[in-house]
Amino acid sequence: MLYIDGFAGPGEYLNKEEGSPLIALKVARDHTLSKKLQRPNMELVFYFVEKDEARCQNLKQKIATLQLPNNFVIHPICASFDEVFDSILTKIEEQNKTLAPCFVFIDPFGPTGFPMSLIKRLAKQPKSEVLINFNYQALNQWFLQDPRKHGHLDELYGSDIWRTALAINDSRHKETYMMQAYQKALSDLGWRGRHFRMVNNHNQTQYYLFFATASPDGMLAMKRAMWSAAPTGDFQYFDLTNPEQPRLFNQEFYDRTYSQDLANQLCNNHCGKTVSKQSLIQNDLALHPICIERHLTQALKIAEYEFNPPKIIEVKLPNDRTRRRGTYPDDCTIKFAP
Ligand SMILES: C[S@@+](CC[C@H](N)C(=O)[O-])C[C@H]1O[C@@H](n2cnc3c(N)ncnc32)[C@H](O)[C@@H]1O
Repeated sequence: MLYIDGFAGPGEYLNKEEGSPLIALKVARDHTLSKKLQRPNMELVFYFVEKDEARCQNLKQKIATLQLPNNFVIHPICASFDEVFDSILTKIEEQNKTLAPCFVFIDPFGPTGFPMSLIKRLAKQPKSEVLINFNYQALNQWFLQDPRKHGHLDELYGSDIWRTALAINDSRHKETYMMQAYQKALSDLGWRGRHFRMVNNHNQTQYYLFFATASPDGMLAMKRAMWSAAPTGDFQYFDLTNPEQPRLFNQEFYDRTYSQDLANQLCNNHCGKTVSKQSLIQNDLALHPICIERHLTQALKIAEYEFNPPKIIEVKLPNDRTRRRGTYPDDCTIKFAP
């Protein structure tokens, strides 16, 4: 597996806070699946790319202090991300090979250095995913307002689609447009996308995290992570210290609302059909903008026990195994009412 951190930073900051490369290495080392990840035939290859020489040297030193498994292959590289990634992809493309399953993290200061032309080549690799820190504040403040920098935005979006925003006066609409246009550019590459909004303590968008993948499992894993950072399912994080800000929320209420929405969607999509639970997970659930596994279980219960008449009329397990009421084991099939 390949993990690429394209804008890696210094490894550790003056306040001792760890940067993304150290976090990633420790998470991989200490992961609950670490036994699986450390099997002899498995190699975890990390590229940490940092353009600034001093930061890069610091990063190398910090990595050297870690105790890591033998199958971790680490390449800290002092260069710019686009050059390094271009050469990785060119080698693969020239040999007509495919890249190992690959997660690319792009965390720059601003909107340059990761042109859509490069992202497009990554998307052609069958097992690739990307997480992009899309710094909307920098983009809006330094690039959108300055015609000399508009060429950078053409590169960022891979087209001039973003230019419509120049005629939008309302700042919220402008932001929504710019963000949706980027999401569309990623989707046009054949990926499914999801984004997460980070709001600063002035209640302004600081940045968006864009995630894109072709894998239903990848999408579910990212949505689970987003739920744990935003427990109401709105996929936004507010860095507000204002005590007036309602911090209390009722997760059950949000879970219930999303589960009902999913139940309606499942019943509409599958009326009269018998579908495996796996297919519901890989298609309906992974494609749902918000829901994760616990909502699927709740949605199925709603459809079976709360809808009148019931919308689920049979749940079958292989080998005539019996099923406990209200459970939907992963290998079951579900028959929806006509
Ligand atoms: C926002 S910081 C990254 C923070 C890092 N993810 C962390 O958690 O510490 C962006 C970093 O990218 C570096 N950088 C800027 N342009 C770059 C480029 N074209 N290629 C690689 N690194 C670059 C900067 O020197 C800076 O250290």
